[in-house]
Amino acid sequence: MSIGIFDSGIGGLTVFKEISKEFPKADIYYLGDTARVPYGNKSKETVIRYSVEAGNYLKSFGIDALIVACNTASSFALDTLKNILDIPVIGVIEPGVEMAIRFTRNKKIGVIGTSATIKSGSYKNLLEKNNVQIYQKPCPLFVPLVEEGIIEGQIAELVVREYLDDLVAEGIDTLILGCTHYPLLKKTIKKIYPHLKIVDSSQAIAEFLHRENLRFNGSGLRKIFITDESESFERFKRVLIGDIPLEKIDLSKLCTL
Ligand code: DGL
Repeated sequence: MSIGIFDSGIGGLTVFKEISKEFPKADIYYLGDTARVPYGNKSKETVIRYSVEAGNYLKSFGIDALIVACNTASSFALDTLKNILDIPVIGVIEPGVEMAIRFTRNKKIGVIGTSATIKSGSYKNLLEKNNVQIYQKPCPLFVPLVEEGIIEGQIAELVVREYLDDLVAEGIDTLILGCTHYPLLKKTIKKIYPHLKIVDSSQAIAEFLHRENLRFNGSGLRKIFITDESESFERFKRVLIGDIPLEKIDLSKLCTL
């Protein structure tokens, strides 16, 4: 069985890495839409269109399940993808919420993400059903920081404090990293707020797949497609998952599917 994973760019590689580790025999096809990143400041309609194109492209490889490894796409396009693709489609929101509910002791949960994800209310709507207090904040500077590789040190710490001090002051004990770029800042966040329980989409989704008992048996194939050349993608790919070659696909091919 094979899995398709897509994200707007590098963030989903954290999901790719975790799924590769947890399901070594699965054949995995990854698409990073590097030509059109970021999704987090686009309209709902645009994110749905991009997501459908990515889903259709990966479906053409005969995947058995699709993982939407992008919080913005999971917030806006999950229902559409479930309707048009006749395979299981799994987003990152539900697994992240489940993990946060298991983690929290004082029922005060922080959610950070792109402006689009926070505005969509996707996390809030699910969390609210669990009788917890929710504190949300968009952190738009985190994505360019990560893309530039500034994930540790003075500048990263300053930006993390700027966004998170207020949220942490509310007394949250659990923080959902509601954007797949943010796990790359996890070390810095943990250094500043060591008491926080951090929910990282990549671990949440791998646990979710184990619980769903999905069996992925294949030859362990790994394919990574990008829609445009990207230095930051290449750099993070090398750091996170090593020497798997990248294949650039023509965006016009994606758009006509
Ligand atoms: N991967 C996106 C997400 O998880 C963040 C980057 C973007 O804005 O495209 O929301």
